[in-house]
Order: sequence, then structure tokens, then C-alpha cells
Amino acid sequence: MSTEKSLYQPNPEFAKNAYIPSMDAYWELQNRAIEDYEGFWKGFADEKIDWLAPYDKVLDESNAPFYEWFTNGKLNVSNQCIDRHLADKADKTAILFEGDRGDVEKITYAQLSQRVNKMANLLKNEFGVTKGDRVVLYMPMIPEAAYAMLACARIGAVHSIVFGGFSAEALKDRIEDAQAKIVITADGAYRKGKPYLLKNVVDDALFRGGESIEAVLVVKRNNEPIEWVEGRDHNYNELIRSQSDVCPFEIMDSEDPLFLLYTSGSTGKPKGVQHSSAGFILWAQMTTEWVFDVKGDDIFWCTADVGWITGHTYIVYGPLAAGTTTVMFEGVPIYPDAGRAWKMVQDHKITQFYTAPTAIRVLHKMGKDEPKKYDLSSLKVLGTVGEPIDPAAWKWYYETVGNSKCAIVDTWWQTETGGHIITPLPGATPIKPGCATFALPGIMTEILSYEGISKEAGEPGLLCITKPWPSMIRNIWGDPERYKKAYFGDVAKDGKPVYFSGDGAVADEAGYITIVGRVDDVINVSGHRMGTAEIEAAVKEDNSVAEVAVVGCPHDIKGESIFIYIVLKEGHINADIKNHINELLATEIGNIAKADHIIEVPGLPKTRSGKIMRRILRSIAKHEEITQDISTLEDPSIVKQIETTAREA
Ligand code: WT7
Repeated sequence: MSTEKSLYQPNPEFAKNAYIPSMDAYWELQNRAIEDYEGFWKGFADEKIDWLAPYDKVLDESNAPFYEWFTNGKLNVSNQCIDRHLADKADKTAILFEGDRGDVEKITYAQLSQRVNKMANLLKNEFGVTKGDRVVLYMPMIPEAAYAMLACARIGAVHSIVFGGFSAEALKDRIEDAQAKIVITADGAYRKGKPYLLKNVVDDALFRGGESIEAVLVVKRNNEPIEWVEGRDHNYNELIRSQSDVCPFEIMDSEDPLFLLYTSGSTGKPKGVQHSSAGFILWAQMTTEWVFDVKGDDIFWCTADVGWITGHTYIVYGPLAAGTTTVMFEGVPIYPDAGRAWKMVQDHKITQFYTAPTAIRVLHKMGKDEPKKYDLSSLKVLGTVGEPIDPAAWKWYYETVGNSKCAIVDTWWQTETGGHIITPLPGATPIKPGCATFALPGIMTEILSYEGISKEAGEPGLLCITKPWPSMIRNIWGDPERYKKAYFGDVAKDGKPVYFSGDGAVADEAGYITIVGRVDDVINVSGHRMGTAEIEAAVKEDNSVAEVAVVGCPHDIKGESIFIYIVLKEGHINADIKNHINELLATEIGNIAKADHIIEVPGLPKTRSGKIMRRILRSIAKHEEITQDISTLEDPSIVKQIETTAREA
């Protein structure tokens, strides 16, 4: 095998005690899944889940692609994450919180139980939240965010977390789409040593709409002065005191939705990805164990925000279901200096560290030698997620952070997959920089053409998952047709629609899978996923804009940045157009959607049927030679004009 030399072998000491200790063990599991798919999953479901009533069927495919797992089984996810651990882990730290200013709080499983029960009672008794109601969370990274998630799970309410970087308008849209009953938020929190506000965004969202909201529950984190709407707004810190810490959990069905999480697609407005209870929690727990190999007194730190799927699965649900200690951090890893993250690893003896390539690049750039100043010997596994990692960042992470002894798990997955799909296993997989390697046992991926034909080694194709898996998306909230079309509408294999991820990938002779990136109109800025259609719709709100096209452009730190081409309406001159467009993007979507480049062009490259040739625009943004055939364009001369403008800009 030609790649053998460039492979990094797992640490043999570590492998000895790993959940999956070798590639033989990996293949033994994967072959078991290939031979008896349902039997494979039944084994783990029976071993891992605390069933309150047994299921009758492992996988029901009768209404494909609306798959059901563990039909009629009963469970409660908050029991899976808390109650069942109380017998032997009551005094173990469940959540290790570190605030922006260095304040540390260790919350044991017993305390977590009390706080979640109280919050569940508060939601149920004071606000009448019941099974199936939607609860929107607009929260900073504080333990109350986790309490709220688990309290919802306990009473069967469906949480929908909106990332704190989204604007009031975006928050309002998500509240309305989900028809949520209550919003849980905080006055604000701390970032880079200073208080900031969040609740004002909720006020603005509810001023704009969101009629379904009956109450706003406000956690006081920084006690900054905020506006208060009498009758609508309620103080969590006061109300929680009188709640009982006993709230029996609701008996939930395997397929009852656990949460919604809005994410961007290639068309239209963000979609509410709906996840299930049993299948989701099973895979969250199994992947936390297999991929991060958490056990014993491990301290697991995932740096994501709870507003993203990574925070759902690998800060809250997976680690707590696995009974480990999960770290939650309010601040940013470069404050007060670029050693903050490494100081935290040292102080808390963190064993697994999971972050995004964009953060690794920032930490590398701002403090190449910082890791050497701290004792990082507790680290065993390093993880990355969200975008491809470049070899330079990988090497620094491996050598300087991991001291060449930690496995790097480059985990490929999506909001829709609920948990990891393709990733190395730290005790088994020989790894190579920038490569996500193999599908996990039980997961069947294939690289296909649009016609459903398997690609040969070395040939890029469409990354598909050809069998349903327990933690897969169940639906798009309120829009089953869109669910079918978005995920099962593009690729069919042997006549059967299969899940297409939107990513391209390529496998080598040895089966190592490398992710090539999105092949649809979705861009990934610092790990934040955005649809070009969504950004274009926001730009069109400017009434001097006639036409707009948005593409992603490679960026050293962010991975991709937003590059916008606009054509102004005839007779319109707008000197301040760039600022205005960025203001619009901040208002309509959030600061994360601001563009790095906005250029005004005389026209867009379109085919005779009117389709914008984005490939050409992507090449121009990158200052690449145009190699595509432009003779089919309605006006080929426009390409030169755009190139000239882009070069001057
Ligand atoms: C998209 C999903 C899954 C949690 C974070 C993002 C890209 C994700 C990798 C990786 C290359 C990756 C893909 C995917 N992506 N992980 N290890 N290597 N690309 O979740 O917002 O749903 O975005 O992120 O393009 O489709 P998301």
C-alpha cells in the first residue's frame, strides 16, 4: 500500500484499552453490521439504552424515507443522561463549567439531577409546557442551557436552540416556523472579560413577530440592566427556588422528537432538522464512547456552542449518556491570551479535546508555541469537525498540541446525521492528515454518481449514506416533501433513493475517504453553514440591487469567506452600498453572515436559459484562470469585465 508510509499509527499503549482496539476489531464489527444490520443495532440498543418498555421492531422501512427505529420502544433521554447514573455516579462531576472570567463550577450528577428536575417542574407548572410543545433556547454557554435541554427532554417538550450569533429576524423566523410556546434566554453573559447582552435580541424578535410565544424565561447571568415586559418576562433565578427537585420523567416513544435544529440548505429558508429520541441518544452515546474513547475519570472538552449540532451531541447528550465529565466554556479560547485553551487543558486535566479547524488555525497563528508552556500530558484524543483540515494545521495539532502521541479524529458528519459518520477510531485507525478515513461500524457510506453508480478509487463523487441509521434526521419540521426532496431526491441506487449529504468525497485504493467539500450551494464560514440562496435573499432587500450572486472564497482562517457580486438597478448609484449590504446581512441573518468581499459588476455570467454560472464566479473570486467553456453564456464578454472589476477591487 503506497500510503502506508505517510500513515500515523495509533499509540499502542492507548490501543490496549480502547473500545475498538484494532482494525481487525473494526472490521469484525462492520462485517457483523453488513451481515445482519438489524441484529447489529439490536445488540447495541439492548446493551446501551435503559428501556422503559421494549420495542417491537428494530427498523421499519415501510414508509421510506420516513424511517423508524426501535418502534414502540419507551424511554426518556433525561433518564438515559442522568437518573440511571445516580446509583454509582451521584458525586461524579457531570458538567465542569468554566466562565469567561475564570470562574469554575463543578456540577455533580446529583446536582444536575436536582437542577434539571427543578427546571422541568418550572416549565411544566408555571408555564404549562407539556409533551410535544416547542421551546426555543437563545442562550449563552452556561450550564442553564444544558439544564433547559434536559428539562425539555424530561417532560417531552421539543427544544429548538438558536445560536446566539443569529439576529432577531432569524430568531423570529425560527420561533414562527416551530410555533414555539416559550423562549428561554439569559440577560447576557461574558466574553473577553466584558458583559454582553442577549435578551435584547429576544425582545426585538418578539417585536417583529413570534406571536406563538406566551412567556420569556430569563436566566440572570451578568445582571446587566435589561428591559422587562411585565407579564411576559419571568426571572428564572427567582422562580427556580421554590420548585421541587422531583419531577417524574415522561414516558417517551422511541420516535418522539427530541429536538429541532435549524440549518441552512442550498435553497430557501433554513430547515428545522427533526431528531428522534431513541436513535439519536443511542448513537450520541456510542460515538462518544467509540470515537473519543471516554471512560473512567476522563474529562471531555468539546469547544462547540450548544447552538450547533456539535454542542447538542458532544457537549450535552453524548457525554452525559456515557456518564463522563463534560466541559462547558463560556468564553473564547484566545482570551485573555492565546494560551487560554491550553491552560484549561492543564488546569482540568482534560483528556479529550474536540474543536474546529478554524479554531486550530487561529490558535496556531496567534500562539504557535503556547502549547509548550503548559502541561498537556493529560490529553489522549484530539478531534476536529466542521470542515476539511489542512495539513499544516493538522501537523501542528498533532505534534505541538498532541506531542505526537494523541490520535487525531477528523470527524465528518452533519446536523442531519445526528452523530459521527466517517472518522478514525483513536485506538484502531492508522491516520493521515486531512483524511476522515472510514465509516463507523454500522454506517454504510458510498461514493456515487448522480446515476447511483459507485465511483472507482481516486474518482471524486457524491458522498451518500445508503442505509438508514438510528440517529438520522427524521423530517424537516412541517415540511415532509422538502425532507424527501432535499435528502433523497438526487441520488438513487438500484432504483432506491439514498441519503445524499451534499458533500463530495473521494476514496483511495485502501478505502480511505477524503471529504472534498460541498458540491451544492452551501458555504462554510468558520464552521458556520450558510446557504447562498439565503444570503442572496437578504441582499435583495436592498432596493438598489437588481441582481446578486453569492459564492464562497477560500480563506486562511475561516476556511471560506463570503464573496458577493451585485448588479445595481439602472440609474441607481449607491456609494454606501457595501456597508448597507453588510448591515442587512447582520440584521437578516447575523454577524456571521457578513461578507468579506462585495463587488459591483455590470452583469452576471448567465447561460441562455438564465442560470447563473457560479463556477465562473468562484474561479474569479479565487483569481483563478477561467478554464471553463464560456461560449454557452448569453454574453461571454461579461466574464472579462467581471474579472477586471474583481482584480481592481
Ligand atoms: C457540513 C455539515 C457536524 C458538525 C459541524 C457542522 C462539513 C463537517 C467535516 C470534516 C470536512 C466537514 C461538511 C458537512 N464538515 N465535518 N471532518 N471534514 N468537512 O455541521 O453545520 O451540519 O455542517 O460540514 O461539508 O456537510 P453542519
